Amino acid sequence: MNDVTITVLPGDGVGPEVTAQAVRVLRATEKRFRHSFTVLRRPVGQEAVEAEGVALSDLTFATCAQSDAVLFGAVGSPPGGAVRDLAARPEHALFRLRKGFGLFANLRPVRPLPSLFGASPLKPEYLKDTDMVFVRELSSGIYYGHLDPVPGKPSEIRRSGAVEEAVDTLLYTAAQIEQVVRAAFELAARRRRKVTSVDKANVLSSSVLWREIVERVAPEHPDVTYEHLLVDACAMRLIRNPADLDVVVTENLFGDILTDEAAMLTGSLGMLPSASLGARRTRGGRFGLYEPVHGTAPDIAGQDRANPVGAILSAALLLRHSLGLHQEADAVEEAVKAVVGQGYRTEDIAESGCTLVGTREMGRAIRDALLEA
Ligand code: IPM
Ligand code: MN
Repeated sequence: MNDVTITVLPGDGVGPEVTAQAVRVLRATEKRFRHSFTVLRRPVGQEAVEAEGVALSDLTFATCAQSDAVLFGAVGSPPGGAVRDLAARPEHALFRLRKGFGLFANLRPVRPLPSLFGASPLKPEYLKDTDMVFVRELSSGIYYGHLDPVPGKPSEIRRSGAVEEAVDTLLYTAAQIEQVVRAAFELAARRRRKVTSVDKANVLSSSVLWREIVERVAPEHPDVTYEHLLVDACAMRLIRNPADLDVVVTENLFGDILTDEAAMLTGSLGMLPSASLGARRTRGGRFGLYEPVHGTAPDIAGQDRANPVGAILSAALLLRHSLGLHQEADAVEEAVKAVVGQGYRTEDIAESGCTLVGTREMGRAIRDALLEA
């Protein structure tokens, strides 16, 4: 495949280190499968605030818009730099990308590798056969409001006289729910054909509507079974019987929280990739933003200590969902499995008897496994 453009936004903290390894793996894929990818780089987050005055410049946005996919590292304020004005935070780059490109479906696959069962706080018998994908609604819900204030959807701190209060609004239109629920059913149809829709319908109106929409969309896929699960019960199911879950679809904030919990099944947040997909079609699939689920990890930034697997597996998702290169994506995932199976571990997933390696060494080993396969 030629004429493919991938824009890399390395960002802050460990972002540049892990995306560098993901690019290395993409380059190896290019070589092994004889493709040609153009890789562009633009600043984002705190790095961009310093270089361009904003967390995500118009030029960077336009560069992403002209690409087939975006590979993203992480963004965050420098430690101790609490910013009161939410709009001036580096995280806003993420919101602008999510909202600006209409990235409504955030896929977060959770598939613990048997060789890493020992690195998880759960007993191996609970992890066996666990293979789920979260479909987190990403462009609406309680997350949005402060970005572009919408009438009837306040998000603000109010102070006047003795009154001190704050409000956020959880608002979903039926169309927003429908598009993400439909994406979940379509995904389930290609997997184990089970959808678990997670809500808080015993309390929230938005969840009552969410359930209604699930009931409306479900008949489009008679071969897919589905269930409704309350979010608190889901938190428990994730620990007690994770193998029972196939595709889990839920609103933005629930998805944010549950996927950090689910990450621990794999042994480390550093293992988890994500794909944020919108409606725009590319030649090979859909335009998307790919990023590890972990953040900037300022405590270990710049020390060659971060786990690059989340970023590398995000590159695999990029190959699959935006470029339609399925064999290539499988090959990257196999290479990760092989290297971790051989005992290569960054410190977050280290166990006794393993080969402890840094970010670069882990990336190199995965690249080599891919080229030697
Ligand atoms: C994530 C992150 C972001 C989110 C933060 C950095 C705003 O936690 O991608 O899960 O909450 O969406
Ligand atoms: Mn999160």
